[in-house]
Amino acid sequence: MSKKMKIGLLTGGGDAPGLNAVIYAFTRAALSAFPGCDIIGYRFGYRGLYYNEYMKLDLESTSGILHKGGTILFSSNKDNLFDYTVVENGVKVKRDVSDTAVRNMREEGVDVLVVLGGDGTLTSARDFSNKGVPVIGIPKTIDNDLGATDTTFGFDTAVSIVTENLGRVHTTAESHHRVIIVEIMGRSAGWITLSAGIAGSADVILIPEIPYKVENIVRKIKARDAAGKHFAIIAIGEGAREAGGSAVVGKIVEDSPDPIRFGGVAAKLAHDIEPLVDHEVRAVQLGHIQRGGDASPADRILSVRYGVHAVEMIKRGEFGKMACLRNGRMSEVSLNDVIANNKYVGPDDELVKCAKALGMSFADED
Ligand code: F6P
Repeated sequence: MSKKMKIGLLTGGGDAPGLNAVIYAFTRAALSAFPGCDIIGYRFGYRGLYYNEYMKLDLESTSGILHKGGTILFSSNKDNLFDYTVVENGVKVKRDVSDTAVRNMREEGVDVLVVLGGDGTLTSARDFSNKGVPVIGIPKTIDNDLGATDTTFGFDTAVSIVTENLGRVHTTAESHHRVIIVEIMGRSAGWITLSAGIAGSADVILIPEIPYKVENIVRKIKARDAAGKHFAIIAIGEGAREAGGSAVVGKIVEDSPDPIRFGGVAAKLAHDIEPLVDHEVRAVQLGHIQRGGDASPADRILSVRYGVHAVEMIKRGEFGKMACLRNGRMSEVSLNDVIANNKYVGPDDELVKCAKALGMSFADED
């Protein structure tokens, strides 16, 4: 009798709304494509692979999660098994412990590993693939900065949340004649800030890819004052920086594939511009609100498509690849082409031009 198919699945990196919808869809599609197959979900991303900690994924354990935010498998953006912190003789040292993970999968009889993650998590997916593990990647990040796919799930939800919050800040800024600076996630990519900045009608949009000049922000605020608009909304990406300056780093998390945690640029900018304008200037850091809660309908649908497509890829034996969206259709791309292929906003991006056409300032022009 041939062995039953066994599939391992994990969610790694910062979470993104839609992870549960992928797990839900993948489990159902896999059980239907490979009747009687076993699906296990490793807990806390790659850490679960190292400690062989997992839960069974079936119709019952995944029931009712399609619409729920977060991930029932938990996630971690610290556990890079190719450079993992272990304690030896009471001292913390870095070790490549990936062989332990491969051995665990072999002993469990796992035939395929499905990895849901962003660039850090998918880099390890590529490295496991290079060690001979049949791997399939599914792209996830609110930042939408993976060049190998048109869109990652989680992005639409984050844009919706930020847009809603820009609207909320708008009314109170207007009531108090204040300038309010809203700090938005996205690491070194400005996609969330740019999209939500347009949808939320920001007056100034500051993104990491276009360094800003303080005097140009001040000029915009003064121009609004002259036009009788005595308040302003500034949307700023957490990785944004002043021309000639550097990004504001909140903290360094050394045992992470993404050691830099941004944070504080809105507070810095408020401090810089308040003496230069006739307004109280306040900073709002939206933080993890941007990726918390349930996914938007668009992200739920995209997640379902990714989950179902990953099962199609297993059927066709398309390993060492990531499911991706290309011109509206599900497709796949080699994991080698996913890594170090980040997508950033270009100065001539159509959305930048649109925002400028609306009179929104990027504070970049002399
Ligand atoms: O990459 C997703 C993301 O939410 C970024 O936008 C943000 O900079 C980072 O993760 C925050 O990570 P953490 O939750 O570890 O602080």
